[in-house]
Amino acid sequence: MPRNIFAHRASRSSPAAASLPGFEPLDRAHAAALEMLDQFDRLLARLQSHGTDDLARQHAMSIIGFFDGPGRQHHADEESLVFPQLLASGDEQLVAHVHRLQEDHAWLEQDWRELGPQLEAIAGGYNWYDLDMLRVALPLFTALYREHIELEETQVYPAAKRRRAVELEAIASRAME
Ligand SMILES: [Fe+2]
Ligand SMILES: [Fe+2]
Repeated sequence: MPRNIFAHRASRSSPAAASLPGFEPLDRAHAAALEMLDQFDRLLARLQSHGTDDLARQHAMSIIGFFDGPGRQHHADEESLVFPQLLASGDEQLVAHVHRLQEDHAWLEQDWRELGPQLEAIAGGYNWYDLDMLRVALPLFTALYREHIELEETQVYPAAKRRRAVELEAIASRAME
């Protein structure tokens, strides 16, 4: 028996790939987002007690770095890698959840466009930011974001992960044929 017989079988199966992505980076992004939302809470408390001191500025810089970068990319990844297959699933409940998540992404982006300049002012140490607006807007933003992640983690990601597991099993069984 040739020693590389299984290597041949592996190479024959290698072009197949699951259409849903691995979820580790998406799960890590949620952990990072939740940390940033906690930091938002700390920032608001700090502004109320100390104004724009060094700690408040550092919080603001971290928050801007996340929501302008990895946070926005995370939503784009979900829109392009996770949602399309779920929208095509024919599962009405799941499709409704995904529509809700897409709406949330749009609201969160719009909210961030209003919050971002305020955060830029704080990060720069300027005092023209609007504390009254932040007192109202920040809790709304963080509550929507937390609800959004909860819906993803309790309903949508588990469904997507089950579908990915089925896909991987099918790919493995085709490779065994
Ligand atoms: Fe999302
Ligand atoms: Fe997410």
